[in-house]
Amino acid sequence: MQTTIIDYGMNAEGVAKVDNFIYFVPYSMFGEKVEIEVEQQFKNYAIAKLKNILVQSTKRLSPPCPYFYECGGCALQHMDYFEQLEYKALLIKKTIKKITGIDAPVSNTVASDNIFKYRNKASFNFSNNKSGFFKHNSKDIIDISYCMLLDDNINQIYSLFKEYLSKHNSIKPYIKNLVVRSIDQQILVGIVSSTDIKCNSFYDLLTKHFKQVGLYLIINKRKDSVVLSGQCKHIAGIKEINIKNYNINYNIDLLSFHQTNIDIQNKIYDKVLDYIKRDETVINAFSGAGLLSAIISKKARFVYGIEIEKSSHEKAEQLIKTNHIKNVKNILGDFNQKYKIIKEKVDTIILDPSKKGCGKDIMRQINGINSIIYISCNPIALAKDLQIIKNNYIIEEIIPFDMFANTNSVETLVKLKIKEKI
Ligand SMILES: C[S@@+](CC[C@H](N)C(=O)[O-])C[C@H]1O[C@@H](n2cnc3c(N)ncnc32)[C@H](O)[C@@H]1O
Repeated sequence: MQTTIIDYGMNAEGVAKVDNFIYFVPYSMFGEKVEIEVEQQFKNYAIAKLKNILVQSTKRLSPPCPYFYECGGCALQHMDYFEQLEYKALLIKKTIKKITGIDAPVSNTVASDNIFKYRNKASFNFSNNKSGFFKHNSKDIIDISYCMLLDDNINQIYSLFKEYLSKHNSIKPYIKNLVVRSIDQQILVGIVSSTDIKCNSFYDLLTKHFKQVGLYLIINKRKDSVVLSGQCKHIAGIKEINIKNYNINYNIDLLSFHQTNIDIQNKIYDKVLDYIKRDETVINAFSGAGLLSAIISKKARFVYGIEIEKSSHEKAEQLIKTNHIKNVKNILGDFNQKYKIIKEKVDTIILDPSKKGCGKDIMRQINGINSIIYISCNPIALAKDLQIIKNNYIIEEIIPFDMFANTNSVETLVKLKIKEKI
């Protein structure tokens, strides 16, 4: 069947309409004339294979990564970068419109300085003599030698570990994951294993290649896909990475949360700082290792940071001590419980939740605060949260940030102001 691609779907697949029936065509691009073949038929739509491109988009690229069509990591390497940025802004606009009915203003997507080698952390999966990432919509591993999105050190350590395993067959069946974090030439490596294993000699190998490196063993007996869980043993070398950013000194370890693309992280934080008014009281909900709280404390009167994960909270506490910051209070616990203990009037709340968003309970609790700054990594969860408070707020600005270039993910910053009561 021949048709034209008239839109993009939620997973960057092209959308065609023939006789009022919708076809999703992975890897096709907006405006292309294509030949398609139905692969899966559903009641209201079908998924079709791109058989032939009859008229190609001028924005189509040959994907540089050899694993692109199989690997579940990237979804956009066949688009030039401007098309990727446009696609992401449109995705946010459409998602918010569909869920909330609001025709919201969405700015152009802020580009990443680097669209390859930007990731400072990766978690590789190991199983049955294969290692790499999951295939699209699957728990099957695609065997890869490297990933173009990762910092060079991470790829090098992955190669070294594969080589090490080839010489240490006895530990191979227990290895579940390799987690590597590399920032400013400081590297933390975590071997995730289903049982206790001896891996000290891997540290010796690492020190032949890297000056500042540390090795952890994480004994994870879980059967689900959660990686960093269970006993975490420090084997040797550095325990933490020390970062200086915004003139603030702070440490993170393998378990603490840190954004994966620091260039885009800083662009978002600059904008958040812009939104904060001098001398206001701010809650930084979901505050991670505390960098953003510290940045805004330079302008705000007082900042409360709330974080559920102990290791990140401890890093946030260490940060305010090291940098002699007096107007930040870090609270450990679940936002829903801890929010209630803040008794003074709050002017602004920053929400930066995990992928699942804030949800009804949190959105209802904060409904009424003058100003909300929402940072989201999931447009659908964001739109559902906005739906809960939309009658009380005006959306002042929505800015997409390309935290995850070449992938289908996007980070969105939304600024909301409470409606004036008449
Ligand atoms: C996307 S991260 C943002 C971290 C931080 N704002 C930053 O930019 O580095 C989300 C954080 O929320 C924390 N978190 C998740 N659920 C939470 C809850 N119910 N209450 C408080 N913190 C939570 C996670 O541990 C994680 O550190």
